[in-house]
Amino acid sequence: MVKITIENLAQKEVFVSTPECSVLKAVQEHFIDWMHACGGKGRCTTCKFIVLLGAEQLSPPTKSEEDYRKLGELQDDERLACQTIALGDCKIRVPDEYKLPHVVYSN
Ligand code: FES
Repeated sequence: MVKITIENLAQKEVFVSTPECSVLKAVQEHFIDWMHACGGKGRCTTCKFIVLLGAEQLSPPTKSEEDYRKLGELQDDERLACQTIALGDCKIRVPDEYKLPHVVYSN
């Protein structure tokens, strides 16, 4: 089973049991609030996360992610949670600019 660790949510561990499940769906299944302004359609960047470990364990970037990367709205160490599938264990972080006001984040 794949494990996604979210560093600044107190090292919360999310286990992905469904193949082809996006990171966004996986965190939502664990009742974690995650910003996703376009509803997970790859049309914004509010669901982005920073990859700390395991970048090679993530599905290849989608066209949407490549387009945002070209526009400079997605850095090399960032992925869109709605577009990315974790194929192996990874460690990620919620960027400061997309933290939700009602969620308590750790360092
Ligand atoms: S929710 Fe908009 S790009 Fe992921």
